[in-house]
Amino acid sequence: MNYPPEPFRIKMVEPIRLLAAEERRARLIEAGYNVFALRAEDIFIDLLTDSGTGAMSDRQWAALMRGDESYAGARSFHRLKEAVQDIFGFPYFVPTHQGRAAENILSAVLVKPGQFVPSNMHFDTTDANIRARGGRPTNLIIDEAFDPRHPHPFKGNMDLEKLRAFIEKVGPQNIPFGMITITNNAGGGQPVSMANLRAVSELYHAYGIPFFIDAARYAENCYFIKQREPGYQDKSILEIARETFSLADGMLMSAKKDAIVNIGGLLCMRDEELYRRVCNELILREGFPTYGGLAGRDLEAMAVGLYEALEEDYLSYRLQQVAYLAERIRDQGLQIIEPPGGHAVYVDAGALFPHIPHNEYPGQTLTVELYLEGGIRAVEIGSVMFAHPDPETGQMVYPRLELVRLAIPRRVYTQSHLDYVAEVLGRIAERAPRLRGYRITDAPPLLRHFTARFEPL
Ligand code: F0G
Repeated sequence: MNYPPEPFRIKMVEPIRLLAAEERRARLIEAGYNVFALRAEDIFIDLLTDSGTGAMSDRQWAALMRGDESYAGARSFHRLKEAVQDIFGFPYFVPTHQGRAAENILSAVLVKPGQFVPSNMHFDTTDANIRARGGRPTNLIIDEAFDPRHPHPFKGNMDLEKLRAFIEKVGPQNIPFGMITITNNAGGGQPVSMANLRAVSELYHAYGIPFFIDAARYAENCYFIKQREPGYQDKSILEIARETFSLADGMLMSAKKDAIVNIGGLLCMRDEELYRRVCNELILREGFPTYGGLAGRDLEAMAVGLYEALEEDYLSYRLQQVAYLAERIRDQGLQIIEPPGGHAVYVDAGALFPHIPHNEYPGQTLTVELYLEGGIRAVEIGSVMFAHPDPETGQMVYPRLELVRLAIPRRVYTQSHLDYVAEVLGRIAERAPRLRGYRITDAPPLLRHFTARFEPL
């Protein structure tokens, strides 16, 4: 597969350097083997996340200068509002400082202890925000999502039968709202089809349950629909986006992904009463409703970025870049989640280290080795992130897959960077049978992967 020529040229560069191997080891030991605790300048290629790490365009940087920093009613807010209404079509919205702030506010306003919030798969912060209000996030994705080799084109789809049975079991009155995540980050950055979105919307609505979309990577999802779903080839990405959101009662979004900004989020809805309650909570936690925890200039950059992420040249390059990395990694003999997702390649660490059990964290081993071998930072998406005690039995529940995500920041790295990443993985794979797992020495109860410390076994 050829590498797609970037639909941009580089106007500004940021130097990066590869530390010597022994220095990398020393830094990692200091960090308690948790790559979140490393200093970014000690990293060569940073694939920790595609969130807030994208390169803004010259148009976005220019827009920053237009920022109106008025406390209330800023011009920048109204510019963002026009973009939000044009693309998403919701009458009410508030900016938030990032995605999880929107999750917090929605959960604070709607979730009561003991209630359930179904989704295809909640991202970890969504999961934690619902739990923090005493709610129970529930994942009802199709079974194909758990088979890393299955080529299903829309592996992010909700299992409609599971959803119907779940609503019947717990009762719609115990579901304050239902969700779906596009693309499904926790399950490999996999898309959800329009047909599935429509069916999920109809099902929630048949039971009177409001439907919210976690839209962090909605533009990538729209591009997958255009490529893979019959009937969408001739539609523009904007048309597909509008159709997507017409199915929902609201959406929450981390703008750090598909609005290509370094900070920002959105919470949109149709219901005016809900909007009033959201505003009260927002004022308490984030800020006045026309800035929501952001500077006016951030709102301007978001308004521009929302449209840039919908450009087909950009999306075509973006998805091909990820597919290229996937192919190079496959060439090195590693198992990845197939087909590759929109923003990242997910390496199956469980398959690479079949001798390391869930409770010794195979994904942690691969994350450590990527840094030691090549100065690369990735993120574990497996038992460190998701294992938790069952609320009823107290038994540990482990996720079905032990993954390591190589997330690609938007418009940042080039072909040679990605070739290097694949070569480093190839070297790790050669010595995989000799590598051992890890033990957690210290961790907080929620979102432990950010701050946990580890020891090699
Ligand atoms: N929803 C999804 C699907 C996400 O991927 C994220 C963040 C959030 C919500 C929360 O947004 O970070 O702006 O508060 N994902 C990042 C990642 C952190 O690395 O995948 P946030």
